[in-house]
Amino acid sequence: MQNFDYYNPTHIVFGKDRLAELDELVPKKSRVLVLYGGGSVKKFGTLEKVIQALPGREIIEFGGIEPNPKFTTLMKAVEVVKAQNVEFLLAVGGGSVMDGTKFVSLAANHDGDAQELLKCGFGPVPVEKAHPIGMVVTLPATGSEMNSGGVISHDGGKYVVGSPLVFPKFSILDPTLTYTLPGKQVANGVIDTFIHTVEQYVTFPVDGRFQDRTAEGILRTLLEIGQKTLENPTDYDARANLVWCATNALNGLICAGVPQDWTTHMIGHELTAMFGIDHAQTLAALQPSVWTVRKGPKREKLLQYAERVWDITEGDEAARIDLAIEKTRGFFESLGVSTRLRSYGVTDEKIDDIVTALEEHGLTALSETGEVTLEVSRKILEHAMGD
Ligand code: NZQ
Ligand code: ZN
Repeated sequence: MQNFDYYNPTHIVFGKDRLAELDELVPKKSRVLVLYGGGSVKKFGTLEKVIQALPGREIIEFGGIEPNPKFTTLMKAVEVVKAQNVEFLLAVGGGSVMDGTKFVSLAANHDGDAQELLKCGFGPVPVEKAHPIGMVVTLPATGSEMNSGGVISHDGGKYVVGSPLVFPKFSILDPTLTYTLPGKQVANGVIDTFIHTVEQYVTFPVDGRFQDRTAEGILRTLLEIGQKTLENPTDYDARANLVWCATNALNGLICAGVPQDWTTHMIGHELTAMFGIDHAQTLAALQPSVWTVRKGPKREKLLQYAERVWDITEGDEAARIDLAIEKTRGFFESLGVSTRLRSYGVTDEKIDDIVTALEEHGLTALSETGEVTLEVSRKILEHAMGD
Protein backbone atom coordinates (compact mmCIF):
# COMPACT_ATOMS: atom_id res chain seq x y z
CA MET A 1 0.00 0.00 0.00
CA GLN A 2 1.23 3.50 -0.79
CA ASN A 3 1.62 6.25 1.82
CA PHE A 4 -1.35 8.57 2.17
CA ASP A 5 -3.07 11.35 4.07
CA TYR A 6 -6.77 11.00 4.60
CA TYR A 7 -8.76 14.02 5.75
CA ASN A 8 -12.50 14.40 5.51
CA PRO A 9 -14.33 16.77 7.87
CA THR A 10 -17.81 16.69 6.27
CA HIS A 11 -20.70 15.91 8.62
CA ILE A 12 -23.17 13.65 6.82
CA VAL A 13 -26.83 13.93 7.81
CA PHE A 14 -28.46 10.93 6.13
CA GLY A 15 -32.09 9.87 5.90
CA LYS A 16 -35.72 10.82 5.50
CA ASP A 17 -37.27 14.06 6.72
CA ARG A 18 -34.19 15.71 8.12
CA LEU A 19 -34.38 19.11 6.42
CA ALA A 20 -35.70 20.73 9.61
CA GLU A 21 -32.29 20.06 11.18
CA LEU A 22 -30.86 22.81 8.98
CA ASP A 23 -31.83 25.09 11.86
CA GLU A 24 -29.13 23.43 13.99
CA LEU A 25 -26.59 23.14 11.19
CA VAL A 26 -26.58 26.66 9.72
CA PRO A 27 -25.24 29.42 12.00
CA LYS A 28 -28.06 31.37 13.69
CA LYS A 29 -28.71 34.96 12.61
CA SER A 30 -26.32 34.65 9.68
CA ARG A 31 -26.67 36.00 6.15
CA VAL A 32 -27.11 32.91 3.97
CA LEU A 33 -26.87 32.66 0.20
CA VAL A 34 -28.96 29.71 -1.02
CA LEU A 35 -27.67 28.55 -4.42
CA TYR A 36 -29.65 26.34 -6.78
CA GLY A 37 -30.00 25.25 -10.40
CA GLY A 38 -32.55 25.67 -13.15
CA GLY A 39 -35.61 25.36 -10.97
CA SER A 40 -36.19 21.70 -10.04
CA VAL A 41 -35.85 22.56 -6.35
CA LYS A 42 -38.59 25.18 -6.70
CA LYS A 43 -40.85 22.92 -8.72
CA PHE A 44 -40.64 20.03 -6.26
CA GLY A 45 -40.84 22.10 -3.08
CA THR A 46 -37.36 21.48 -1.68
CA LEU A 47 -36.35 25.13 -1.71
CA GLU A 48 -39.44 26.15 0.21
CA LYS A 49 -38.75 23.56 2.91
CA VAL A 50 -35.13 24.66 3.15
CA ILE A 51 -36.08 28.29 3.65
CA GLN A 52 -38.74 27.39 6.21
CA ALA A 53 -36.10 25.53 8.19
CA LEU A 54 -33.95 28.65 8.53
CA PRO A 55 -35.89 31.14 10.65
CA GLY A 56 -33.99 34.17 11.88
CA ARG A 57 -31.43 34.20 9.06
CA GLU A 58 -31.27 36.71 6.27
CA ILE A 59 -31.82 34.56 3.17
CA ILE A 60 -30.66 35.59 -0.28
CA GLU A 61 -31.38 33.32 -3.24
CA PHE A 62 -29.18 32.70 -6.27
CA GLY A 63 -30.77 30.43 -8.89
CA GLY A 64 -29.86 29.56 -12.45
CA ILE A 65 -26.68 27.55 -12.00
CA GLU A 66 -26.71 25.42 -15.14
CA PRO A 67 -25.57 21.79 -15.57
CA ASN A 68 -21.78 21.93 -16.09
CA PRO A 69 -21.72 25.22 -14.18
CA LYS A 70 -20.28 28.19 -15.98
CA PHE A 71 -17.60 30.48 -14.61
CA THR A 72 -19.52 33.53 -15.84
CA THR A 73 -22.70 32.52 -14.00
CA LEU A 74 -20.80 31.77 -10.81
CA MET A 75 -19.02 35.12 -10.89
CA LYS A 76 -22.44 36.77 -10.62
CA ALA A 77 -22.95 34.86 -7.37
CA VAL A 78 -19.52 36.02 -6.21
CA GLU A 79 -20.67 39.62 -6.70
CA VAL A 80 -23.72 38.95 -4.54
CA VAL A 81 -21.58 37.36 -1.81
CA LYS A 82 -19.30 40.40 -1.74
CA ALA A 83 -22.00 43.07 -2.09
CA GLN A 84 -24.28 41.59 0.56
CA ASN A 85 -21.66 40.38 3.02
CA VAL A 86 -22.88 36.81 2.81
CA GLU A 87 -21.57 34.62 5.64
CA PHE A 88 -22.74 31.12 4.72
CA LEU A 89 -23.36 29.34 1.39
CA LEU A 90 -26.05 26.69 1.13
CA ALA A 91 -26.09 24.60 -2.07
CA VAL A 92 -29.40 22.91 -2.88
CA GLY A 93 -29.07 20.68 -5.94
CA GLY A 94 -26.92 18.21 -7.83
CA GLY A 95 -23.22 18.15 -8.64
CA SER A 96 -23.34 21.29 -10.73
CA VAL A 97 -24.81 23.40 -7.93
CA MET A 98 -22.51 21.86 -5.32
CA ASP A 99 -19.40 22.34 -7.48
CA GLY A 100 -20.48 25.86 -8.39
CA THR A 101 -20.93 26.75 -4.73
CA LYS A 102 -17.42 25.57 -3.91
CA PHE A 103 -16.08 27.78 -6.67
CA VAL A 104 -18.08 30.77 -5.43
CA SER A 105 -16.69 30.22 -1.94
CA LEU A 106 -13.10 30.27 -3.23
CA ALA A 107 -13.52 33.05 -5.80
CA ALA A 108 -15.17 35.35 -3.23
CA ASN A 109 -11.98 35.14 -1.19
CA HIS A 110 -9.51 35.45 -4.03
CA ASP A 111 -7.79 38.68 -5.04
CA GLY A 112 -7.36 39.34 -8.73
CA ASP A 113 -8.71 37.53 -11.77
CA ALA A 114 -10.66 34.46 -10.65
CA GLN A 115 -9.84 32.71 -13.95
CA GLU A 116 -6.50 32.03 -12.27
CA LEU A 117 -8.29 29.48 -10.08
CA LEU A 118 -9.19 27.44 -13.15
CA LYS A 119 -5.54 26.84 -13.91
CA CYS A 120 -4.73 25.11 -10.63
CA GLY A 121 -6.07 21.65 -11.52
CA PHE A 122 -5.51 19.18 -8.68
CA GLY A 123 -2.90 21.53 -7.17
CA PRO A 124 -3.38 24.14 -4.43
CA VAL A 125 -5.31 27.36 -5.11
CA PRO A 126 -4.00 30.81 -4.09
CA VAL A 127 -6.75 31.38 -1.50
CA GLU A 128 -6.26 31.61 2.27
CA LYS A 129 -9.83 31.27 3.48
CA ALA A 130 -13.25 30.39 2.12
CA HIS A 131 -16.89 30.88 3.02
CA PRO A 132 -18.35 27.90 4.89
CA ILE A 133 -20.63 25.70 2.81
CA GLY A 134 -23.56 23.41 3.57
CA MET A 135 -25.32 21.17 1.07
CA VAL A 136 -28.72 19.64 0.45
CA VAL A 137 -28.22 16.97 -2.18
CA THR A 138 -30.87 16.27 -4.83
CA LEU A 139 -28.88 14.07 -7.24
CA PRO A 140 -26.63 11.15 -6.21
CA ALA A 141 -23.70 10.95 -8.64
CA THR A 142 -20.68 13.15 -8.22
CA GLY A 143 -19.72 12.73 -4.57
CA SER A 144 -19.26 16.50 -4.45
CA GLU A 145 -21.21 16.49 -1.17
CA MET A 146 -18.27 14.93 0.66
CA ASN A 147 -15.22 15.98 -1.27
CA SER A 148 -13.23 19.15 -1.79
CA GLY A 149 -13.33 19.47 -5.58
CA GLY A 150 -15.48 20.81 -8.36
CA VAL A 151 -15.49 21.06 -12.13
CA ILE A 152 -16.14 24.44 -13.75
CA SER A 153 -16.88 25.14 -17.42
CA HIS A 154 -15.31 28.12 -19.14
CA ASP A 155 -14.44 29.10 -22.69
CA GLY A 156 -14.85 25.64 -24.22
CA GLY A 157 -13.05 23.75 -21.43
CA LYS A 158 -13.88 22.03 -18.13
CA TYR A 159 -11.53 22.76 -15.25
CA VAL A 160 -10.99 20.92 -11.99
CA VAL A 161 -10.77 23.26 -8.97
CA GLY A 162 -10.39 22.18 -5.38
CA SER A 163 -9.17 23.00 -1.91
CA PRO A 164 -9.56 21.47 1.55
CA LEU A 165 -11.13 24.84 2.45
CA VAL A 166 -14.29 23.89 0.54
CA PHE A 167 -15.13 20.54 2.07
CA PRO A 168 -18.79 21.05 2.98
CA LYS A 169 -19.37 21.59 6.72
CA PHE A 170 -22.36 19.30 6.34
CA SER A 171 -24.38 17.59 3.64
CA ILE A 172 -27.96 16.47 4.02
CA LEU A 173 -28.54 13.26 2.08
CA ASP A 174 -32.26 12.55 2.04
CA PRO A 175 -32.86 9.87 -0.61
CA THR A 176 -36.51 10.93 -0.92
CA LEU A 177 -35.39 14.32 -2.32
CA THR A 178 -34.03 12.40 -5.33
CA TYR A 179 -37.32 10.61 -6.17
CA THR A 180 -38.25 13.33 -8.66
CA LEU A 181 -35.18 12.78 -10.84
CA PRO A 182 -35.88 11.83 -14.45
CA GLY A 183 -34.72 8.29 -15.31
CA LYS A 184 -31.88 9.65 -17.40
CA GLN A 185 -30.35 11.40 -14.39
CA VAL A 186 -30.72 8.31 -12.21
CA ALA A 187 -28.90 6.24 -14.84
CA ASN A 188 -26.25 8.96 -15.08
CA GLY A 189 -25.80 8.81 -11.32
CA VAL A 190 -25.34 5.03 -11.29
CA ILE A 191 -22.79 5.24 -14.09
CA ASP A 192 -20.85 8.20 -12.66
CA THR A 193 -20.59 6.34 -9.34
CA PHE A 194 -19.50 3.14 -11.13
CA ILE A 195 -16.79 4.93 -13.10
CA HIS A 196 -15.50 6.88 -10.09
CA THR A 197 -15.03 3.53 -8.40
CA VAL A 198 -13.27 1.77 -11.26
CA GLU A 199 -10.96 4.72 -11.94
CA GLN A 200 -9.59 4.19 -8.43
CA TYR A 201 -9.63 0.39 -8.58
CA VAL A 202 -8.82 -0.98 -12.05
CA THR A 203 -5.18 0.20 -12.11
CA PHE A 204 -2.37 -2.06 -10.84
CA PRO A 205 -2.24 -4.04 -7.59
CA VAL A 206 -0.57 -2.57 -4.48
CA ASP A 207 -2.17 -4.94 -1.95
CA GLY A 208 -4.71 -2.31 -0.86
CA ARG A 209 -7.14 -4.93 0.34
CA PHE A 210 -9.54 -2.66 2.20
CA GLN A 211 -9.68 -0.26 -0.76
CA ASP A 212 -10.19 -3.09 -3.27
CA ARG A 213 -12.85 -4.87 -1.25
CA THR A 214 -14.67 -1.60 -0.61
CA ALA A 215 -14.57 -0.70 -4.31
CA GLU A 216 -15.88 -4.16 -5.18
CA GLY A 217 -18.65 -3.71 -2.62
CA ILE A 218 -19.73 -0.45 -4.23
CA LEU A 219 -19.64 -1.98 -7.72
CA ARG A 220 -21.64 -5.06 -6.73
CA THR A 221 -24.17 -2.88 -4.93
CA LEU A 222 -24.62 -0.82 -8.09
CA LEU A 223 -25.19 -3.99 -10.11
CA GLU A 224 -27.83 -5.04 -7.58
CA ILE A 225 -29.70 -1.77 -7.29
CA GLY A 226 -29.00 0.09 -10.57
CA GLN A 227 -31.90 -1.28 -12.56
CA LYS A 228 -34.13 -1.50 -9.50
CA THR A 229 -33.80 2.15 -8.51
CA LEU A 230 -34.35 3.20 -12.12
CA GLU A 231 -37.54 1.17 -12.42
CA ASN A 232 -38.86 1.91 -8.93
CA PRO A 233 -37.78 5.46 -8.14
CA THR A 234 -39.58 5.45 -4.78
CA ASP A 235 -38.04 2.21 -3.52
CA TYR A 236 -36.38 3.84 -0.51
CA ASP A 237 -33.79 1.17 0.21
CA ALA A 238 -32.61 0.91 -3.38
CA ARG A 239 -32.29 4.70 -3.65
CA ALA A 240 -30.65 5.02 -0.23
CA ASN A 241 -28.00 2.54 -1.33
CA LEU A 242 -27.34 4.49 -4.51
CA VAL A 243 -27.00 7.73 -2.55
CA TRP A 244 -24.51 6.27 -0.06
CA CYS A 245 -22.51 4.50 -2.78
CA ALA A 246 -22.25 7.74 -4.77
CA THR A 247 -20.91 9.61 -1.75
CA ASN A 248 -18.37 6.95 -0.80
CA ALA A 249 -17.14 6.43 -4.35
CA LEU A 250 -15.53 9.87 -4.34
CA ASN A 251 -14.88 11.05 -0.80
CA GLY A 252 -11.20 10.11 -0.66
CA LEU A 253 -11.70 6.76 1.06
CA ILE A 254 -11.17 4.20 -1.71
CA CYS A 255 -8.34 6.12 -3.40
CA ALA A 256 -6.24 6.46 -0.24
CA GLY A 257 -3.03 4.48 -0.65
CA VAL A 258 -3.76 3.12 -4.14
CA PRO A 259 -3.02 4.33 -7.71
CA GLN A 260 -5.68 6.32 -9.56
CA ASP A 261 -6.39 6.52 -13.27
CA TRP A 262 -8.88 9.33 -14.31
CA THR A 263 -8.24 8.91 -18.05
CA THR A 264 -11.94 8.34 -18.69
CA HIS A 265 -12.91 11.47 -16.76
CA MET A 266 -10.35 13.73 -18.36
CA ILE A 267 -11.21 12.72 -21.93
CA GLY A 268 -14.89 12.77 -20.97
CA HIS A 269 -14.66 16.38 -19.79
CA GLU A 270 -13.45 17.40 -23.26
CA LEU A 271 -16.43 15.63 -24.84
CA THR A 272 -18.87 17.46 -22.55
CA ALA A 273 -17.17 20.79 -23.23
CA MET A 274 -17.15 20.29 -27.01
CA PHE A 275 -20.44 18.50 -27.65
CA GLY A 276 -22.55 19.07 -24.53
CA ILE A 277 -22.83 15.31 -23.89
CA ASP A 278 -23.84 14.54 -20.28
CA HIS A 279 -20.88 13.79 -18.00
CA ALA A 280 -21.95 10.18 -17.29
CA GLN A 281 -22.72 9.47 -20.94
CA THR A 282 -19.16 10.40 -21.90
CA LEU A 283 -17.88 8.01 -19.25
CA ALA A 284 -20.10 5.13 -20.41
CA ALA A 285 -18.84 5.58 -23.97
CA LEU A 286 -15.17 5.77 -23.01
CA GLN A 287 -14.58 3.29 -20.17
CA PRO A 288 -14.92 0.02 -22.17
CA SER A 289 -12.50 1.45 -24.75
CA VAL A 290 -9.99 2.62 -22.13
CA TRP A 291 -9.89 -0.97 -20.86
CA THR A 292 -9.74 -2.50 -24.33
CA VAL A 293 -6.80 -0.31 -25.34
CA ARG A 294 -5.01 -0.77 -21.98
CA LYS A 295 -5.68 -4.45 -21.27
CA GLY A 296 -1.94 -5.05 -20.90
CA PRO A 297 -1.04 -2.63 -18.09
CA LYS A 298 -4.36 -3.29 -16.33
CA ARG A 299 -4.28 -7.08 -16.76
CA GLU A 300 -4.08 -8.08 -13.10
CA LYS A 301 -6.77 -5.72 -11.87
CA LEU A 302 -9.05 -6.50 -14.81
CA LEU A 303 -8.81 -10.20 -13.93
CA GLN A 304 -9.58 -9.39 -10.29
CA TYR A 305 -12.52 -7.21 -11.39
CA ALA A 306 -13.81 -10.02 -13.64
CA GLU A 307 -13.71 -12.54 -10.82
CA ARG A 308 -14.84 -10.50 -7.85
CA VAL A 309 -17.40 -8.20 -9.45
CA TRP A 310 -18.77 -10.42 -12.24
CA ASP A 311 -17.98 -13.92 -10.89
CA ILE A 312 -16.09 -14.76 -14.10
CA THR A 313 -13.78 -17.68 -13.37
CA GLU A 314 -13.87 -19.78 -16.54
CA GLY A 315 -11.77 -19.43 -19.69
CA ASP A 316 -8.27 -18.14 -20.34
CA GLU A 317 -7.15 -14.73 -19.12
CA ALA A 318 -7.88 -12.89 -22.36
CA ALA A 319 -11.38 -14.34 -22.55
CA ARG A 320 -12.13 -13.42 -18.93
CA ILE A 321 -11.02 -9.83 -19.47
CA ASP A 322 -13.01 -9.51 -22.68
CA LEU A 323 -16.10 -10.90 -20.99
CA ALA A 324 -15.76 -8.47 -18.05
CA ILE A 325 -15.52 -5.53 -20.47
CA GLU A 326 -18.51 -6.82 -22.43
CA LYS A 327 -20.58 -7.25 -19.26
CA THR A 328 -19.70 -3.74 -18.11
CA ARG A 329 -20.83 -2.34 -21.45
CA GLY A 330 -24.01 -4.40 -21.18
CA PHE A 331 -24.73 -2.98 -17.72
CA PHE A 332 -24.48 0.62 -18.95
CA GLU A 333 -26.64 -0.17 -21.99
CA SER A 334 -29.21 -1.90 -19.76
CA LEU A 335 -29.65 1.43 -17.96
CA GLY A 336 -30.49 3.04 -21.30
CA VAL A 337 -27.11 4.75 -21.76
CA SER A 338 -25.32 4.25 -25.06
CA THR A 339 -21.66 3.21 -24.99
CA ARG A 340 -20.82 4.40 -28.48
CA LEU A 341 -19.68 7.95 -29.18
CA ARG A 342 -21.24 7.90 -32.63
CA SER A 343 -24.70 7.66 -31.11
CA TYR A 344 -24.10 11.04 -29.40
CA GLY A 345 -23.44 12.67 -32.76
CA VAL A 346 -19.64 12.65 -32.57
CA THR A 347 -18.14 12.03 -36.02
CA ASP A 348 -14.72 10.61 -36.98
CA GLU A 349 -13.47 14.00 -38.20
CA LYS A 350 -13.91 15.41 -34.69
CA ILE A 351 -11.29 13.14 -33.16
CA ASP A 352 -8.51 15.51 -34.23
CA ASP A 353 -10.25 18.39 -32.45
CA ILE A 354 -10.67 16.36 -29.27
CA VAL A 355 -7.01 15.40 -29.27
CA THR A 356 -6.04 19.04 -29.85
CA ALA A 357 -8.20 20.07 -26.88
CA LEU A 358 -6.50 17.48 -24.67
CA GLU A 359 -3.14 18.88 -25.73
CA GLU A 360 -4.21 22.47 -25.07
CA HIS A 361 -5.31 21.49 -21.58
CA GLY A 362 -2.02 19.73 -20.85
CA LEU A 363 -3.67 16.27 -20.70
CA THR A 364 -0.84 14.50 -22.50
CA ALA A 365 0.22 11.91 -19.89
CA LEU A 366 -2.94 10.49 -18.35
CA SER A 367 -3.64 7.36 -16.28
CA GLU A 368 -2.16 5.64 -13.24
CA THR A 369 1.19 5.45 -15.04
CA GLY A 370 1.15 8.58 -17.18
CA GLU A 371 1.46 6.44 -20.30
CA VAL A 372 -1.76 7.64 -21.93
CA THR A 373 -0.22 10.04 -24.42
CA LEU A 374 -2.23 11.87 -27.05
CA GLU A 375 -1.68 8.89 -29.35
CA VAL A 376 -3.17 6.50 -26.82
CA SER A 377 -6.10 8.89 -26.23
CA ARG A 378 -6.65 8.92 -29.98
CA LYS A 379 -6.81 5.10 -30.03
CA ILE A 380 -9.31 5.15 -27.16
CA LEU A 381 -11.48 7.68 -28.97
CA GLU A 382 -11.33 5.75 -32.25
CA HIS A 383 -12.37 2.58 -30.47
CA ALA A 384 -15.15 4.38 -28.55
CA MET A 385 -16.78 5.61 -31.77
CA GLY A 386 -18.26 2.16 -32.39
CA ASP A 387 -19.33 0.82 -35.76
O1 NZQ B 1 -30.89 22.55 -12.59
P1 NZQ B 1 -32.08 21.86 -12.03
O2 NZQ B 1 -33.38 22.46 -12.45
O3 NZQ B 1 -32.00 21.67 -10.54
O4 NZQ B 1 -32.14 20.38 -12.71
C1 NZQ B 1 -31.09 19.47 -12.60
C2 NZQ B 1 -30.25 19.35 -13.87
O5 NZQ B 1 -30.99 19.68 -15.01
C3 NZQ B 1 -31.67 18.09 -12.47
N1 NZQ B 1 -31.98 17.71 -11.08
C4 NZQ B 1 -31.15 17.71 -10.01
N2 NZQ B 1 -31.79 17.21 -8.93
C5 NZQ B 1 -33.06 16.92 -9.32
C6 NZQ B 1 -33.19 17.24 -10.69
N3 NZQ B 1 -34.34 17.06 -11.38
C7 NZQ B 1 -35.38 16.53 -10.70
N4 NZQ B 1 -35.33 16.19 -9.40
C8 NZQ B 1 -34.18 16.35 -8.68
N5 NZQ B 1 -34.13 15.94 -7.40
O6 NZQ B 1 -30.66 17.22 -12.95
C9 NZQ B 1 -29.94 17.87 -13.98
C10 NZQ B 1 -28.47 17.57 -13.86
O7 NZQ B 1 -27.93 18.13 -12.67
P2 NZQ B 1 -26.36 18.25 -12.45
O8 NZQ B 1 -26.14 18.84 -11.11
O9 NZQ B 1 -25.72 18.93 -13.62
O10 NZQ B 1 -25.91 16.71 -12.49
P3 NZQ B 1 -24.75 15.94 -11.73
O11 NZQ B 1 -25.05 15.80 -10.29
O12 NZQ B 1 -24.54 14.72 -12.52
O13 NZQ B 1 -23.48 16.91 -11.82
C11 NZQ B 1 -22.70 16.97 -12.99
C12 NZQ B 1 -21.54 17.93 -12.79
O14 NZQ B 1 -20.67 17.46 -11.76
C13 NZQ B 1 -19.32 17.41 -12.26
C14 NZQ B 1 -19.52 17.15 -13.72
O15 NZQ B 1 -18.38 17.43 -14.48
C15 NZQ B 1 -20.69 18.05 -14.05
O16 NZQ B 1 -20.27 19.38 -14.24
N6 NZQ B 1 -18.53 16.44 -11.49
C16 NZQ B 1 -18.13 16.78 -10.25
C17 NZQ B 1 -17.32 15.96 -9.47
C18 NZQ B 1 -16.88 16.35 -8.11
N7 NZQ B 1 -17.22 17.50 -7.61
O17 NZQ B 1 -16.17 15.61 -7.44
C19 NZQ B 1 -16.84 14.69 -9.98
C20 NZQ B 1 -17.57 14.19 -11.16
O18 NZQ B 1 -16.75 13.28 -11.84
C21 NZQ B 1 -18.03 15.23 -12.12
O19 NZQ B 1 -16.99 15.60 -13.01
ZN1 ZN C 1 -17.67 11.69 -12.63
